[in-house]
Amino acid sequence: MRKNHIIAPSVLAADFSKLGEDLQMINNSEADWLHVDVMDGRFVPNISFGKDIVKTINKVCTKPLDVHLMIEEPERYIEDFREAGADVITFHLEATRHAHRVIQQIKDTGAKAGIAINPHTNVNQLQDVLEDVDLVCLMSVNPGFGGQKFIYQTLPKLRQLKEMCEKRNLEPYIEVDGGVGLQNAERVLQAGANVLVAGSAVFKAEKPLEVVSKLKKIGSESWV
Ligand code: DX5
Ligand code: ZN
Repeated sequence: MRKNHIIAPSVLAADFSKLGEDLQMINNSEADWLHVDVMDGRFVPNISFGKDIVKTINKVCTKPLDVHLMIEEPERYIEDFREAGADVITFHLEATRHAHRVIQQIKDTGAKAGIAINPHTNVNQLQDVLEDVDLVCLMSVNPGFGGQKFIYQTLPKLRQLKEMCEKRNLEPYIEVDGGVGLQNAERVLQAGANVLVAGSAVFKAEKPLEVVSKLKKIGSESWV
């Protein structure tokens, strides 16, 4: 298991009537990044929010913003989200015809470039962009909604991706997004992930700070 994994709570599960407070809670937590889900109602059935909300979040949140674009033709909005404060910009392989170009476009803005794949997409499809990306996100639910059940087929995919990376001496962040919580985080990390996104598990918990702290500590007992 890799040391120092990253915890990225997903703001989609926050209470938007008191977003400021929830963001302060994240600022005071051991979270490393804040995961920000942008949905367009086309690539996924749901609509969440756009760049103005991301800009507002960035004003309050002191953690780096990990912006997950679940939108068709992400190339149309990369600069907007960078200007809004995104530190990592992740788009979906399935949402563009020009994944390689989008990666370069993201890097040109100075942000880290991430690529995400849906549960049905084989990790082999990442072979030819693996060297170019800073982050690979494996969706462990069908994107569109928080609070869904983790798809366990993600674990062998993670192992396969990890092996692909090791063979080529590459070390992108390997992020898992959807249905992650205290019940499965250890297995997800063991399978090769080093970034855990957790929405409901954090924001819907009675003691969110404790959950973040526990997620952060997983595996630390075995470190030497
Ligand atoms: C799903 C989003 C996820 C979601 C995770 O479309 O990309 O980031 O917010 O939420 P939980 O952890 O509740 O599954
Ligand atoms: Zn997400």
